[in-house]
Amino acid sequence: MAHFVLKKDLKLGVATAATQIEGGDTGSSWNDWYKKGRIKDGSNPARANDHYNRFREDTDLLAFMGMEIYRFGVEWSRIEPEEGKFSQEALSHYREEILLLRERGIMPLLTLHHFTNPLWFEQIGGFESARAEEIFLRYVEKVVGFVGDIVSEYITINEPNVYATNSYFFGVWPPGKSSFKSVIRIYRNFTRCHVGAYKLIHSLRSKMGFSDTQVSFANHIRVFEPKCRFNPYHIICAVLLRQLFQTAITKSLSWGKKAFPIGKIKDITPGKYYDFISINYYSRSTVASFADGVKRGAPLNDLGWEIYPAGIVESAKMLYDLYKAPIYITENGTCDNEDKFRCRYIFEHLKAIAENHLPITRYYHWCFIDNFEWIEGESARFGLVHVDYETQKRTIKRSGNFYTQIIREHGVSEYLFNEYANQEYKFGND
Ligand code: BGC
Repeated sequence: MAHFVLKKDLKLGVATAATQIEGGDTGSSWNDWYKKGRIKDGSNPARANDHYNRFREDTDLLAFMGMEIYRFGVEWSRIEPEEGKFSQEALSHYREEILLLRERGIMPLLTLHHFTNPLWFEQIGGFESARAEEIFLRYVEKVVGFVGDIVSEYITINEPNVYATNSYFFGVWPPGKSSFKSVIRIYRNFTRCHVGAYKLIHSLRSKMGFSDTQVSFANHIRVFEPKCRFNPYHIICAVLLRQLFQTAITKSLSWGKKAFPIGKIKDITPGKYYDFISINYYSRSTVASFADGVKRGAPLNDLGWEIYPAGIVESAKMLYDLYKAPIYITENGTCDNEDKFRCRYIFEHLKAIAENHLPITRYYHWCFIDNFEWIEGESARFGLVHVDYETQKRTIKRSGNFYTQIIREHGVSEYLFNEYANQEYKFGND
């Protein structure tokens, strides 16, 4: 008996981000953050997985594991180490990597911005700068001009809300600011950058003769739930947090439309600036104030995030009802340092996807390999593949083998479930 069979048109793969796996680069805002001692375990993003040198071995591993699709990023600070000066070496490197993926039958989805900025850009104000749009679009033009013939799918910006909140509200990510005004400025400039990049990528590829271009931005979507469903204050907090953290930015970037509190943006014509709905889904927030909270007694991952599989479909439905486009789950995964419950996590999230009627056509598990997890450094493991950071040895985890089997069978049989996914979660306090 099959536990579930995935829909025929759902493709499965994994995701990564340049700074989190490449190593070697020292010109980004996160290297600076490391130097300032802001990474909890002191690990250096210049180490990470050394993927920049090992991309051939890693591409073989992706193919060996049966990946059909792969979302990954390019590092802006490598490509444009000085303002306006582009590195032919870096561009050629990425071209070679993409060609290799294609040769192995793995379809790439390319992320252009994933939380990190070249330091020179950060120093002139980053995405707060009045020049952000011009500078970002010049970079996008260079990248897409170089690889546009071999990549049809793009994410312009990864999780604008998480970036703005952590970097400009809580101040825990570079540049470490705490200002609501800055958050709004970032949101407005991200809208300009995304809308501009959306149009630019379409126009560049159509000049190259392609009509299959797919562009979106990756939305970090959480489920916001009031701690007590009858408490008006909890309800207001949940509604406002949802609006401030995700509804407004999604509307602004997707449609270029006025959204509270971002407002109307001069020179942006309302339109449709996405070809697919991109969702990064991890967890649910149970709120009783204007802060994140976790449901009592809920299953938790190693970072204390609630494991709430139904939320993947609730989030997808919420966006689909408004935006009506194919849905790509561009990230979903968990921090499980000992790989004790990841199989069950994957099983439950994919089961939720299999058992609904939404047009979810891609699932990218986060992450292919353990990596540099921002301020958690190397201490938080999200990978299907274990990495020994000292030796850089890669070992496929149990969950990696499970995922490979799921791809092969396009579902989970009773046998596979019993072999892998019959695992225990750990629970928070009641
Ligand atoms: C980010 C990733 C990150 C993951 C796990 C997502 O919000 O896009 O870069 O590693 O969450 O924290």
